Amino acid sequence: MHQATGPQPTQGWDAAQIAEQAWRAAQAIDVGDIGYGRVHWGDHRSHKTTPAPYYRFLAGLTASQSIKRVCEIGTHSGGATRAIHRALGEPSDSRIVTIDVTRESDKHLSGIQNITKIVGDATTEKTFRRTLNAFADRHKIDLLFIDGGHRYVPELLAFSIYTQALSPRLVVIDDINLNEQMRLLWEKVTASRPAALTLDVATLFPDVRKPSVGFGLIALPENDQIPERRYEIPVTSPWKRRIRNAARSVGWLYPR
Ligand SMILES: C[S@@+](CC[C@H](N)C(=O)[O-])C[C@H]1O[C@@H](n2cnc3c(N)ncnc32)[C@H](O)[C@@H]1O
Repeated sequence: MHQATGPQPTQGWDAAQIAEQAWRAAQAIDVGDIGYGRVHWGDHRSHKTTPAPYYRFLAGLTASQSIKRVCEIGTHSGGATRAIHRALGEPSDSRIVTIDVTRESDKHLSGIQNITKIVGDATTEKTFRRTLNAFADRHKIDLLFIDGGHRYVPELLAFSIYTQALSPRLVVIDDINLNEQMRLLWEKVTASRPAALTLDVATLFPDVRKPSVGFGLIALPENDQIPERRYEIPVTSPWKRRIRNAARSVGWLYPR
């Protein structure tokens, strides 16, 4: 008889339950020494030496959901990265790959085992390839944390390509109520999902994030079914690429 293989029921995947477990676990994790770094508001220059409110939640989520493999888009100073890392411990099979166009995290993250920082625009093919190769042993992660440009197109691109490619079982998106573009993004990425699998954590726990800013959590049980497979993306050398592009531009090669 044919077995249904589509999205599975929500048992164990209820976003509110996951958030409750995370917040409970968070109470036992101290992230008080992890500062946010240079602020993205006000004068954009001052440094915040205290954690962002959601750091503790991310640490609790990591601990309570046994998260080991994480991709973060928008590292900044690596505050959230370090909070997540603290809850990972140092198991040999854990990995955080974090992407940013800036190097502001360099002094905080360099030398930390299990953290790979990729400098680049997450929505470009080059950065995407490098990220996939950082997970070459298997394109499967536990958590995708999107905290990048806070605009509709780059965040939708990030959600679409990284969710499809890395099959996370959980996605967290910061600032889902920050502006109209982020509200539209949240509406778009949750529209076709059962309500129980998505949650603005700020509505349940305003200490995690102010409801006016929002903190989205999505559970993707369907990604639990995706087979694990080793896959290394072939990398073309920059010289070879230049020669090929030049040949195309003068018509010696068909675009391929
Ligand atoms: C709000 S900060 C991230 C804060 C950090 N996740 C934390 O919680 O401590 C947003 C970061 O996203 C980066 N960013 C914006 N657009 C990006 C893109 N397309 N690719 C990579 N990084 C991007 C910015 O440079 C900035 O450092």
